[in-house]
Amino acid sequence: MKNLLAPRTLEFAVQTNEAARSAAEHADIIAEPGFGKHFTDHMVDICWSEMGGWHRPRVQPYGPIAMDPAAAVLHYAQEVFEGLKAYRHEDGSIWTFRPEMNAERMKRSAIRLALPELPTEYFIESLRQLIAVDARWVPSTPDTSLYLRPFMFAKEAFLGVRPAAKVNYYVIASPAGAYFTGGVEPVSIWISTDYARAGRGGTGAAKTGGNYASSLVAQQEAYDHGCAQVLFLDSEKSEYLEELGGMNVVFVYKDGRVVTPESSSILEGITLDSLLQLAKDRGLKTEQRRMTISEVREGVASGDIVEMFACGTAAVLVPIAQFKAEGYTIGDADAPAGELTMSLRQELTDIQYGRVQDRHGWMTRLDA
Ligand code: PLP
Ligand code: COI
Repeated sequence: MKNLLAPRTLEFAVQTNEAARSAAEHADIIAEPGFGKHFTDHMVDICWSEMGGWHRPRVQPYGPIAMDPAAAVLHYAQEVFEGLKAYRHEDGSIWTFRPEMNAERMKRSAIRLALPELPTEYFIESLRQLIAVDARWVPSTPDTSLYLRPFMFAKEAFLGVRPAAKVNYYVIASPAGAYFTGGVEPVSIWISTDYARAGRGGTGAAKTGGNYASSLVAQQEAYDHGCAQVLFLDSEKSEYLEELGGMNVVFVYKDGRVVTPESSSILEGITLDSLLQLAKDRGLKTEQRRMTISEVREGVASGDIVEMFACGTAAVLVPIAQFKAEGYTIGDADAPAGELTMSLRQELTDIQYGRVQDRHGWMTRLDA
């Protein structure tokens, strides 16, 4: 059922929002955006059908999506999404970070969820089209950005369980400050042993809503234990590290090695990939391999592991002070942020905000 036809046209119909927020409302939101609370004045909408492929690309006023109560997504969760950011540079220009990686990942997610693949050039053009009408929503204060949320779901009204023949792709955008209310203060992470995020052959490597739905009880457990996020272990033995509910996890060893868990059921993070590259550029050795929770316990206790952090688009890079689990803790809740952690964070954000040379060609301009 996969649609491999190129879209018929890259020409978007644009309907501007007559009820766009006033300058005063806009200024209030931009002054304190928070995360994921406020949305811009427009959204992108592209239709797909089995017969017609991708068609009717448009930019329209942000607003409710009308759909049939029998739409397959509401029953069977046939959905995928992406997350990336638009950054305002000093000269006012607007850029995004490695969008082709998000486009490729969305294709992989779509394949796993039996959804159609959106061509990369369509994905990138959809971001440009949204920025063309909503550029004023890209904030310019330090560490702020416009979070872009492309998503795609099964809109066909049909209760039989099979891949939908009608799908829509959208992009919405939300001005963003820090993901965690504490900014870049080191956080504590809860290790879930009762719940798993993904299993062998499941959807763990796809960015699909169901993975997040199933993480919520564990995330609640994390909050109940005073932790910011949850770390999931493998579903069979609760022994191997996977990732956090919405971020990858990284450990720095005292000999300079930068190590991150390898598993077929974790999301391939673009922030992670970029940070590993920056670490390699500094001559550090990086390893993506199976890691057990005992290795982490022993490594932190012996002083072999000297820094820990979590990374992802929304939160960028957050130092981890401590892990907590039923019956034990790893590390110290008061541990300061690691030196390499903070310096990698600085280097990555310097590239994203255009403060240093983009030597890997990671940035794509969206407003020209
Ligand atoms: N893992 C999960 C489960 C995520 O939701 C995210 C966030 O997108 C990541 C990892 C990090 O991915 P990226 O760096 O591409 O944002
Ligand atoms: C992101 O970092 O983009 C995410 O998707 C994490 C979370 C907001 C779901």
